[in-house]
Amino acid sequence: MRSVEKIKKYLNHNEIKKILHSWSWIFSYILRYKGQVIAFSLIGLLSTGLGLFTSWVLKDLIDSVTGEISLKIAPVAAVYLGTAVAKIFITALTNRVSLRIRLNVGIQIKNDVYDKLMNTEWTAISAFHSADIMTRTGADVGIVSNMVLSYIPNVVTALVNFIGAFFIILHYDPIMALLALAGAPVTVLTARFRFGKATEFQKKNRELAGERLAIEEESYQNLQTIKSFGLVPLFSQRFREFQQKGFGVAMEQNRYQNQMLIIMSLMGQLVTYSCYGFALYRLWKGDITYGTLSLFMSMAASLTGSFSSVVSLVPSFIKAGISAGRVLDVLELPTEKTELTEQEKQFIKNSKNKKLSLMCNDITCAYNDEAVVYKDSSLTAQSGKITALIGASGKGKTSTLRLLLGLIKPQTGSITVKNEDGEEIEISAATRKLFSYVPQNNTIFSGTIADNLRLVKQDATDDELKKVLEDACAWEFVSKLPDTINTKITERGQCFSDGQNQRLSIARALLADTPILLLDEATSALDVETEKKVISNILDYNRNKMIILTSHKPSVFKLSDEIYSVSENGIELLDRKELHYE
Ligand SMILES: Nc1ncnc2c1ncn2[C@@H]1O[C@H](COP(=O)(O)OP(=O)(O)OP(=O)(O)O)[C@@H](O)[C@H]1O
Ligand SMILES: [Mg+2]
Repeated sequence: MRSVEKIKKYLNHNEIKKILHSWSWIFSYILRYKGQVIAFSLIGLLSTGLGLFTSWVLKDLIDSVTGEISLKIAPVAAVYLGTAVAKIFITALTNRVSLRIRLNVGIQIKNDVYDKLMNTEWTAISAFHSADIMTRTGADVGIVSNMVLSYIPNVVTALVNFIGAFFIILHYDPIMALLALAGAPVTVLTARFRFGKATEFQKKNRELAGERLAIEEESYQNLQTIKSFGLVPLFSQRFREFQQKGFGVAMEQNRYQNQMLIIMSLMGQLVTYSCYGFALYRLWKGDITYGTLSLFMSMAASLTGSFSSVVSLVPSFIKAGISAGRVLDVLELPTEKTELTEQEKQFIKNSKNKKLSLMCNDITCAYNDEAVVYKDSSLTAQSGKITALIGASGKGKTSTLRLLLGLIKPQTGSITVKNEDGEEIEISAATRKLFSYVPQNNTIFSGTIADNLRLVKQDATDDELKKVLEDACAWEFVSKLPDTINTKITERGQCFSDGQNQRLSIARALLADTPILLLDEATSALDVETEKKVISNILDYNRNKMIILTSHKPSVFKLSDEIYSVSENGIELLDRKELHYE
């Protein structure tokens, strides 16, 4: 009774609970590929069966040679060779087919995880370092996908091999069977300790992999800053310290694995040699034949081998469980609502080329309960007008645009859009379709200039691209490039100036042609003349467009119809006449 309680307590242990939960996710994939998993288990069984059968045939072959039994040698030898050759071909075939299935399973899981992550709430996912996410979706998903196909067949073959060898020995000699299992109690008794160690090392290794990617990613991405501050020696030193940490963990793990290897091998050898000794003793006494001796020897080896395989199923169970857990940590984050309701669909359809008004009603903007940016604020913006948000750095201008995009949700109040017919919908992730956004930082992707623009309108003609580039005052430099719109952009647009990248981002937002345009300091790097030209072009492009922009520059306020100040006191409509620049 007490041991049942103990097992219950053991299973309730958080670490184990988490691994079991992670395995339920792995099982959902095993179920999806159950046909292949069953086929693989059968092939594994066939291979194991052939192995056991070969040992049996070898016994008969030896006994026929030594004259113990009266079987013809040639056919027995032929069967022996035939099964050995068949095993080689089965192994080759299994390798080939298993690779194909493992690759397919891997692709499927990666696709699922990618889609799920792309639809995760932005605030939740942005709490993770991108390198950390990449190790979770790369190496961890890889470990899981390998396990989907192989775990059940491995369990089945290891168990069948073990049970088969055990019963064959039991059939010939029960004492020998007990002897062969003498090491089992040690393995069972040390299980908890080994489980803990395996969990600890697997976690450390996965975390180190994420840390390594983060260090490298940040170093290569910020090379310019590192070089200009003369930080190369500091970063080299940090990298070396990290490598040393990795070295320490690897050596520590190796010491533990070696200790285990020595203990387990010594025990294995002890058991195997005891079996051999006992078998030789029985041969000497004349109880068994040479054939049975060979059978005992191969079965004892098979039994210890398969026992190790059964035991090693536990660390691989833990390894996959931890990796799956790390993937689930990001997969189980809240997902955005991206599907439009019928009413929202209708609203978007009815609002084409009509005037809209956007209202923030008594909203509180916060990232979590403690980090309140501002409280109880209201704002209105109209189509055909430029609404400017101004305010000191860090006061909540970008955060307000994030609220409009549904990237964060207002803690109190509501944000709605109304059309001329009086229809009104609430802002959410799904209504993002109404907006195009030029963020404060660089958002140029790799590919050509045309590829970057066509991201928002795949069927845009070259003429359309030229038009938006002209309106964004970008054509003047793009036209001078040898390949114009087909010029390849280096990573994050490093081949262009900040102002040029900003103009490309504006051109892309114009091409998207949505009713509302959000510009987050999108012209900060432009000279006053170009800025003025870009903004008036945007208005000319579509007189109905609602433009909400943030800026620190008086030149932009001058062009705006309404100006709101954003601060910890909230959003406040300013009287233009009282502004210094007027
Ligand atoms: N992802 C985030 N998680 C938690 N807090 C955030 C996050 N992003 C911004 N903040 C906090 O919200 C506040 C407003 O930031 P925001 O980026 O909106 O300022 P801003 O007015 O756009 O500033 P700037 O003019 O420098 O661009 C800041 O105090 C900032 O620390
Ligand atoms: Mg900002």
